[in-house]
Amino acid sequence: MPSIAVYPGSFDPITLGHLDIIARATKVVDELHVVVVHNPGKTPRFSSAERVELIRASLAEHGIHSNAKVIVDTLDSGLLVNYCRMVGASVLVKGFRSNVDLDYELPMAQVNRDLAGVETIFIPADPQHGHVSSSLVKQVADLEGSVTKYVPQAVARALATSAVNRKK
Ligand code: PNS
Repeated sequence: MPSIAVYPGSFDPITLGHLDIIARATKVVDELHVVVVHNPGKTPRFSSAERVELIRASLAEHGIHSNAKVIVDTLDSGLLVNYCRMVGASVLVKGFRSNVDLDYELPMAQVNRDLAGVETIFIPADPQHGHVSSSLVKQVADLEGSVTKYVPQAVARALATSAVNRKK
């Protein structure tokens, strides 16, 4: 039976840290659904369709060197575990940079297990991406700093355009 996993997140926008987690997750599963999920606690910079496009462009730019199938999708409402059930995934993948991330992620992992027996597998961030977050790159781009170390080129371009539009 193929192992199917879901990597959910806001991805607003995707960073090189997220891409690294995707690349590493595809080495241990047969199919990975990268899912842009609506987080009611956040006001997104990019629409979910734009975030999906940026993920697809980033995957094309960087390539995934494994035989796993990668599917990019959205979940605009409803429980993540229902999405997992729909695609036959028994596992969620999450990256973590520090104990701050783990404190945030642990209750969600426990709820997802309670709700549907879906387990969460945590992949530690590569130290080179340990300080990279979507919110920080948005802030740097808005203040006209370079984000090319932190995000794929397609994302850097989208951030630059969004920074210009916000100034108008
Ligand atoms: O990148 P984020 O914003 O930290 O991702 C959080 C996200 C979207 C994965 C989380 O909010 C989520 O799973 N939302 C879906 C709704 C859900 O299933 N909630 C109950 C379990 S946490």
